[in-house]
Amino acid sequence: MRKTRTVHLVRPGDCNHYGSLFGGTAMAWMDEAAFVAATRHARAKVVTVHADALDFRHPVPQGAIVELVAWVREVGRSSMRLEVEMWVERVDSPERTLACRAGFVMVALGPDGRAIPVSAPVEGPDAEP
Ligand SMILES: CC(C)(COP(=O)(O)OP(=O)(O)OC[C@H]1O[C@@H](n2cnc3c(N)ncnc32)[C@H](O)[C@@H]1OP(=O)(O)O)[C@@H](O)C(=O)NCCC(=O)NCCS
Repeated sequence: MRKTRTVHLVRPGDCNHYGSLFGGTAMAWMDEAAFVAATRHARAKVVTVHADALDFRHPVPQGAIVELVAWVREVGRSSMRLEVEMWVERVDSPERTLACRAGFVMVALGPDGRAIPVSAPVEGPDAEP
């Protein structure tokens, strides 16, 4: 199953007044990673219709490296259920911590804005083309 990975450096403008990543920014990054994974799967316009509850397990400090990993877990007719993980790495250590995960549902739309069918996910290794 193909995984989409997006990387961000946590800059001051991404943080709250405590100096850690603002939750709304984290949600936007996760939604974007899910969007790219769904788009790569459907090769059509896709929109978010649902996001599961998010549990922030650890604060993400300013200056950290964040990697979002997203993949299509299940496909309905026009909907795709995606899993997104947010991994955090400090600049001085290769150790990674899972700071957050969430499920999203994205729907593929045709040019008229109506839901269109998508294919089933292909099982296999995490191979990039
Ligand atoms: C996407 C949209 C066109 C779907 O319209 P709709 O009339 O609900 O279409 P359908 O009922 O055929 O639903 C389409 C699919 O989405 C799924 N779906 C719709 N709402 C859902 C929800 N809240 N949670 C999970 N799945 C949902 C349906 O189960 C269906 O899945 P399937 O085709 O795999 O069986 C419409 O909901 C929409 O435009 N939403 C706004 C999306 C948006 O702007 N997102 C940006 C973030 S705010």
